[in-house]
Amino acid sequence: MDKIVSLCRRRGFVFPSSEIYGGMGSTYDYGHYGVLLKNNIRSLWFQAMVQARDDIVALDSAIILNPRVWEASGHVGGFTDPLVDCRTCKLRFRADRLEDASCGRRPSKRPGETSDCDLTEARQFNLMFKTQVGALEDESSTAYLRPETAQGIFVNFKNVAQLARRKPPFGIAQVGKSFRNEITPGNFLFRVREFEQMEMEFFVPPEESPRWYEYWIEQRLQWHRSLGLRDSQLRVREHGEEERSHYSSATSDIEYLYPIGWQELEGVANRGDFDLTQHTQSSGTKLEWVEQDGTRYVPHVIEPAVSIERIFVALMVDGYDEEIVAERDRTVLRLHPAVAPVKAAILPLIPRNGDMVAKARALQEELRLRWMVEYDDGGQIGRRYRRQDEIGTPFAFTIDDQTLEDDTVTVRDRDSLAQERLPIGGVRDWLGEALERPWRTPKA
Ligand code: GAP
Repeated sequence: MDKIVSLCRRRGFVFPSSEIYGGMGSTYDYGHYGVLLKNNIRSLWFQAMVQARDDIVALDSAIILNPRVWEASGHVGGFTDPLVDCRTCKLRFRADRLEDASCGRRPSKRPGETSDCDLTEARQFNLMFKTQVGALEDESSTAYLRPETAQGIFVNFKNVAQLARRKPPFGIAQVGKSFRNEITPGNFLFRVREFEQMEMEFFVPPEESPRWYEYWIEQRLQWHRSLGLRDSQLRVREHGEEERSHYSSATSDIEYLYPIGWQELEGVANRGDFDLTQHTQSSGTKLEWVEQDGTRYVPHVIEPAVSIERIFVALMVDGYDEEIVAERDRTVLRLHPAVAPVKAAILPLIPRNGDMVAKARALQEELRLRWMVEYDDGGQIGRRYRRQDEIGTPFAFTIDDQTLEDDTVTVRDRDSLAQERLPIGGVRDWLGEALERPWRTPKA
């Protein structure tokens, strides 16, 4: 993980937030390449979940909802983790995760393992961030930053069902920031307090829910594979009864083998009719489906939910590679071309040569209309290649002496390092085809 954090920092993917003020524990800002990578993850999710289907529509609900939403959903009463404090080292731990934590004084020991440790009794700590709406600061103005996007979908069920001209099974998809006051954030972006969820609530006739639950586990697993994540690093783990959330009758995690071990990448839950029933009872508005013949039922919900951050880390870990080429170390990010922040680099071999620069700039102008490409004329060509390798750019086009003679360029493949020559006029079509080709990581 340290190597990933260092690369993200060095190449401007991710910065510690508010760094000039000493940071803001486990909060991060995204630089240029981080933004591009996140945009690609988000748009590939949207393509798969909305654009490529007839049965899912999009929604963008507010972050601050009526607080009654969170009472009805069970978050005010039950969205808690058990917390213990150590009176000696003043650190806080999750009582149910002590085996994964380190003692503040003796990091090789667990909290509570040494005679110095003085842990308090566990108490429940609500993970929702509170805020005030309006000028008055009293109980009546208390509101919450949403801890999941899902509730914004449930409370809009009636609006969407009436207007979207869909009948169950159909889904509502939403991408947006969620906030949780995690007791023990950490492991870079893996557990943060502010993250971007991509959630889809799929409403189905009750008797069909087991089938759709299985279907969505498989669909989502396939999607993670389509991002290039290695099959050997992905698995599905079904939750035991004691592990499931209060609303769920079945949950499976799609797990990735992060450097910290197998951990949840995405969750797929069968939420039954819990949410629609709760909001019906609490709001008095019936959230149900009425068939043309008048039959009524409360749809059951299958929910695949993932954050961009967990995918971001998985892609970085899966893509990071080191090798020795021509007796020199090479660090390369073997990202699937579809997620790579920059699709191609355009490099004039001799930056002082005005003709080369002009040709390179013209090629950049042509390609940037369709893709994120990068022109770079700073420094030795070898160093420029290595920079592109580290940000995961799959192809580099070099404009050299021969280009000036016969209008051909060299294209270099990030993974194989193979080079070939192409007519400059054919680069756009070549790149379009290359980016569409099936891709598999050469990493073992
Ligand atoms: N609506 C259901 C829900 O929110 P969850 O398992 O608590 O379920 C769903 O969260 C997904 O959100 C997780 O699978 C994970 O990808 C992501 N996630 C949850 N907490 C996170 C955190 N603190 N930091 C980054 N991602 C998080």
